[in-house]
Amino acid sequence: MADGGPVAVRDVGISLPAGITAVVGPNGSGKTTIARVLAGLETGAEGEFRVRGEVLGSEAERLRRTALVLQNADHQLQMRSVGEEVAYARRLALRTPGFWSRMPVLTPEEEANVGAALTRLGLIEFRDRHPQSLSGGQKQRLVIACALMKDPALLVLDEPTSGLDGGNLERLAKLLREEAEAGRAVLVVTHDEDLLAYCDFVLDAREVRGLKIGVKTEVKAEETA
Ligand SMILES: Nc1ncnc2c1ncn2[C@@H]1O[C@H](COP(=O)(O)OP(=O)(O)OP(=O)(O)O)[C@@H](O)[C@H]1O
Ligand SMILES: [Mg+2]
Repeated sequence: MADGGPVAVRDVGISLPAGITAVVGPNGSGKTTIARVLAGLETGAEGEFRVRGEVLGSEAERLRRTALVLQNADHQLQMRSVGEEVAYARRLALRTPGFWSRMPVLTPEEEANVGAALTRLGLIEFRDRHPQSLSGGQKQRLVIACALMKDPALLVLDEPTSGLDGGNLERLAKLLREEAEAGRAVLVVTHDEDLLAYCDFVLDAREVRGLKIGVKTEVKAEETA
């Protein structure tokens, strides 16, 4: 950055430890982009991305080893019942990677894991309900339950507190804390002071300069130099 030129790829990297890392920064500073890069959703992102020391080198690897919870839970719910939603997420997670593979059928043990996740997230009583009939907080917990079915190295949540009341926020924070204590890396895009209070580390999106995504970043790198 010193001479204002584009940042060398080797100088760019995001390394996340176990624990809860908050991504902060003003509107448009690239918070969601960082979340999407780490989740493997931005094509052509260059840099070294590590989670708990493990290098997630390719987009495919990041897609496989991370799970993303979007701001709007409605966008991630597609099945006809709460139970099916989580079971489907587990089946996807168990699928052998590759161009073509058969969707596995859940064993009774795996069915029990699905039930345990629903119980843990306070959704077991809604098992047969349509996902869209749940409240905002319940929908979000359902999306998180689905995300955890992947057992991701990194769980990413983009602005998870918008629309959550105090009780649901505390519940979310406790859940993220449990995950962090179990050794998972959690990245949460937020400017919610109440949630920030629960986080272990803070990453300012403005400091993640030079994160190279397509052509636009080079322009950005020159502008910010
Ligand atoms: N490293 C980058 N390279 C190229 N484009 C980027 C980069 N970071 C962000 N952008 C672009 O800048 C715009 C704003 O980024 P983004 O949506 O990630 O910001 P945000 O901090 O999440 O904003 P908000 O607070 O409004 O949610 C987007 O169009 C995005 O594509
Ligand atoms: Mg955003």
